[in-house]
Amino acid sequence: MYSFRNDYSEGAHEKLLQALARASVEQNAGYGYDRHSLAAAEMICHAAARPDADVHFLSGGTQTNMTAISAFLRPYEAAIAAETGHINVRETGAIEATGHKVIAVPGKDGKLAPPQIQAVLNSHLNEHMVKPKLVYVSNSTELGTIYSKAEMEALSKYCRKRDLILYLDGARLGAALTAPENDLTLEDLGRLTDAFFIGGTKNGALFGEALVICKHALKQDFRYLVKQNGAMLAKGMAVGVQFEELFRDRLYYDLAAHANQMAELLKDAITAEGFGFLAPSATNQVFPILPNSLIKKLSRDYGFEPWFKVDENTSAIRLVTSWATPEKEVKNFIEDFKNCLKQVDGQGKKI
Ligand SMILES: Cc1ncc(COP(=O)(O)O)c(C=O)c1O
Repeated sequence: MYSFRNDYSEGAHEKLLQALARASVEQNAGYGYDRHSLAAAEMICHAAARPDADVHFLSGGTQTNMTAISAFLRPYEAAIAAETGHINVRETGAIEATGHKVIAVPGKDGKLAPPQIQAVLNSHLNEHMVKPKLVYVSNSTELGTIYSKAEMEALSKYCRKRDLILYLDGARLGAALTAPENDLTLEDLGRLTDAFFIGGTKNGALFGEALVICKHALKQDFRYLVKQNGAMLAKGMAVGVQFEELFRDRLYYDLAAHANQMAELLKDAITAEGFGFLAPSATNQVFPILPNSLIKKLSRDYGFEPWFKVDENTSAIRLVTSWATPEKEVKNFIEDFKNCLKQVDGQGKKI
């Protein structure tokens, strides 16, 4: 049984483990003031061309979203997200638990654009309603799609004009930035967003996310809030060491590019058999729409998430590849996919 269920089934890349082993016999300062966290923060600031940014290392995606969004908003302010956005559907109401409403709007292929945000502003007019203040996007999105530079520039321009905070969840930022059609860079994100995070957990780290706060007004007292939320690690060096390794020689990008290439093989083979997808994913999560009979057969030998029931006979599943997915396993899947298809052909509807 091989699993395409997610990109956190494996542990950490060996270079990170070796670096952790080396750092473990050193003595390091606590709570993120160690030499590795400081060096990693400097590398990230350099890569984002924001020497003035504050970088905070946290341990997980939900924790980062919750700590950052609740820090950036006043008590009555709300976040706007696409209906499919992670903070809206997959974080157990963590943002709402901090007192901030998440206003969900229909997105296109998991993405937000200014007209959908404007519709929210049009319907939130006074103090009898929450005040929409932060725009949440993720790159890649929940559907594996990515934002283009033009789309991100449009969002940034729109948000700045209306004094909205633009926050980008980069749990899978590596996959987004190394997608073949991507034209965004970390520098662009440093210029266009108010804050964003770079995900390590889903791209070769044991755990860890690097939050980059670009806008000066959002930086104040952030460490107090990290600590108060129980998010400040005494052995913070464990995240810093991993990011230092990820950004030293572009390992971060190489690992993500591998995950994308493996997903591309899956996508091409499934497309060649005539099937469609829930959204035009460019990254390491793909959502083919398949006959239920085929899904049942595949599930005997492969792990994956059932995602969405399309109609009585067909459903979308989610296949995820990772930095560690061997090409051999992808090729086995493709061969088995074709064999299973022969057995169900005629019963299943092709899209
Ligand atoms: C876009 C995005 N944001 C945040 C998270 C939350 O990360 P964690 O599970 O580490 O809390 C995930 C996890 O799947 C995610 O895909």
